[in-house]
Amino acid sequence: MEEILREEIARCGPLPCARFMELALYHPEHGYYERNRAAVGQRGDFYTSVSVGELFGQLLAFQFAEWLTELGTRNAERGMADAPLQVVEAGAHDGQLAEDILLWLRKRRPDLMDRVEYWILDPSERRQEWQRGRLSMFGSRVRWFANWGEVQQAGGVTGVIFANELLDAFPVHRLAWSAAEQRWFEWGVRSMGERFIWTRLPELHANVAALAQPSAALGNLDEALRESSWASLAPVLPDGFILELAPFAELWWNIAAQSLRAGKLLTFDYGHTTGEVINPTKPAGTLRAYRDHQLVDDILAAPGTQDITAHVSFAVITHAGERAGLATTELTEQSRFLTRIAQRTMQQPAAFGEWTRERGRQFQTLAHPDHLGRSFSALLQERA
Ligand SMILES: C[S@@+](CC[C@H](N)C(=O)[O-])C[C@H]1O[C@@H](n2cnc3c(N)ncnc32)[C@H](O)[C@@H]1O
Repeated sequence: MEEILREEIARCGPLPCARFMELALYHPEHGYYERNRAAVGQRGDFYTSVSVGELFGQLLAFQFAEWLTELGTRNAERGMADAPLQVVEAGAHDGQLAEDILLWLRKRRPDLMDRVEYWILDPSERRQEWQRGRLSMFGSRVRWFANWGEVQQAGGVTGVIFANELLDAFPVHRLAWSAAEQRWFEWGVRSMGERFIWTRLPELHANVAALAQPSAALGNLDEALRESSWASLAPVLPDGFILELAPFAELWWNIAAQSLRAGKLLTFDYGHTTGEVINPTKPAGTLRAYRDHQLVDDILAAPGTQDITAHVSFAVITHAGERAGLATTELTEQSRFLTRIAQRTMQQPAAFGEWTRERGRQFQTLAHPDHLGRSFSALLQERA
């Protein structure tokens, strides 16, 4: 991985942070997420709600079943009782969450299981192989797609599109405010001997250039920025204030929203929920690297062997969905979102199954503010 990066830097000059991340995480041979099937969980580098246990998937399955039943009823009223429904997962990694959801549906809602296809969207052939291995027991109920183009060719989605911790794994551009020059510049990466170090890029990458000039046409972030104090705040920001922009995450969400013909679009992630693009509480930005469950000091060290991630700007993502015609149902803490589902499962014990001690333990971890409950948010949008 290091050789590949050094070679590209020699050929093209310093790389934007987004390109460095793209290669370090997703290079088809040596990228972190290609090499590390066990990246998530106890033996990996970080925990997610999925690695807590099967309860997360079971709660989602219960919620999805309610949504899909409503959609099915609506279809029937319109004379389309047999119209297919889909659950689409992106960022499925090794397929664990898909397995948890499908096992619950098969056991508890066999009626729906017969009607619903589970689609996995993953551009990586290698990860698809891991997922196919794990999910072979569900046969043709599960289908794979490499990109949204393929999903749209298949007719788009009526049902649920969702992801857990996908958007925080997308590459980000890293801008910094120069107080002396009163303008944004972009941090890139160059090599120095064996190491990779941050360096100021001579100019902003085309993906972000328009965004950094409040007076210019603002491109994709348009509405989010106009409504935020981004432009007016900039002149008083401290020197070096970091702003991370994730145009790929924004675009991805926008296309996901376009691909949803009817139903829900849901993500769980950690990020800024204040409605502002600029997060005054994080002047040094939120880009982090993890290895063996520890924060790593040098984000650029040993690319391909450690996770690199950044907070999601929910203001930007929310606007990206609304631009595609979705209505925002809610942006809330994961704890609230899951607690509401759990309450309904308790009213229907026959449908969900018994709340065992183990389920209770997993719920604590998922919903307690000291664990995952507060650090993660759920964004839910919909098309009626
Ligand atoms: C932080 S992991 C989360 C894995 C899993 N959802 C969980 O919660 O345990 C992010 C996953 O998203 C995958 N990913 C990244 N970009 C993607 C894309 N454009 N489409 C689908 N998956 C992607 C990564 O390869 C990785 O498997």
